Amino acid sequence: MLLAALPNSLYALVQRVQNTNPGETMDKSGKDGLLGNKIAAGVLTAGLVLWGANRIAHSVMSDEAPEKPAIKIAALPSAAPAQASKPAGPESILPLLAKADVAKGMAFVQQQCAACHTFTQGGANGVGPNLYDVVGAPMFAHTGFSYSAAVKAKAHGNWTYDEMNEWLYSPSNFAPGTGMSYPGIHNTQTRADVVAYLRTLSNRPVPLPSASQIKSESEEHGASAAPPATAPAENLTALLAHADPAKGKALFEEQCTACHTIAKGGANGVGPNLYGVVGSKSFSASGFDYSDAVKPKAGKPWTAARLDDWLKSPAAFAPGTHMAYPGIKNDQTRADMIAYLNQNSASPVKLP
Ligand code: HEC
Ligand code: HEC
Repeated sequence: MLLAALPNSLYALVQRVQNTNPGETMDKSGKDGLLGNKIAAGVLTAGLVLWGANRIAHSVMSDEAPEKPAIKIAALPSAAPAQASKPAGPESILPLLAKADVAKGMAFVQQQCAACHTFTQGGANGVGPNLYDVVGAPMFAHTGFSYSAAVKAKAHGNWTYDEMNEWLYSPSNFAPGTGMSYPGIHNTQTRADVVAYLRTLSNRPVPLPSASQIKSESEEHGASAAPPATAPAENLTALLAHADPAKGKALFEEQCTACHTIAKGGANGVGPNLYGVVGSKSFSASGFDYSDAVKPKAGKPWTAARLDDWLKSPAAFAPGTHMAYPGIKNDQTRADMIAYLNQNSASPVKLP
């Protein structure tokens, strides 16, 4: 894996050293062969040190292919700030946001950012500031966090998608000397996923950049996601009969707990507490501030069929909903989830 990422020239050297049998070299090639090997090894070591330093400086995420060859040492922002060939800046994430994968963004953030940041409402500042409600908020202005002078100089107005894109692409380019020692997210889709997730960490997420785009998008899916309401019902009955609540629970823990609690009396988070949701009046959890998108639908009970529709694609069910979750596309998996939700209730409904 590491070898695969080595620049070709170094990789060739590694191969050369590895492929040469020392005994053979002594016997047949004599000193010259050995000397050649030593030089190769020396060059290799020097190369590896340079390469390693560069790798560490960039510390590219394991699940993300480096966009530029690792050997391009001159591009190190701190080493060559005045370099004329400064990276041209990140690709825009605006066209990607509507379709971004919030669940992936969440997983990425938990892996890469949680060491320094908390994401819940009222969460403590750590090495970095709490990031609840950061998109659209005043830049570098979270209460109680002491920011570096480097970013204070860059703070102007509120975080737009464009600025968040640039910051996350390379914090040290955005604000040389920033205290956020993180190399940046160079993959554009990953940046879009992360920003789409950060956007959801709010009681009032800022609108997506292209509401019309996201709408036509969800309508495309909606064509198949909102079929005649009777057709899937029979199917759902069969799926519920075979539903596995344990699988639903596993998925819930993986994909829903960032926004929802399910225990009795659990707090509302980004989304409402879900205890007893099956059979209850929809979008009516006390103390939760629902989006205008779902308010017109509030009060109608959550039957299994209706939940099935919602969970298949929240955005198709209620365009503009704040539940920025792409939906559960697999029919059986949705049934598993409904069975699990139904277990978490004082009075589970009899599922069809
Ligand atoms: C090694 C610790 C560290 C890691 C890892 C880290 N950050 Fe930060 N982050 C910071 C610090 C420190 C600041 C404050 C910057 C300063 O004062 O220069 C910050 C600031 C921010 C801000 C601006 C917050 C504001 O109040 O305006 C955002 C947004 C942000 N980080 C997002 C992320 C994301 C997303 C990730 C993961 C992809 C991440 N950070 C990873 C330490 C970190
Ligand atoms: C990124 C945050 C987020 C994730 C992830 C998420 N939800 Fe939600 N969920 C919300 C929000 C916000 C609402 C309220 C919708 C609104 O106001 O538009 C909601 C509403 C709901 C409702 C309706 C609750 C009610 O009061 O009637 C159900 C059911 C639900 N979510 C289930 C799930 C399940 C199951 C998952 C995982 C497969 C999930 N959610 C993942 C944020 C999220």
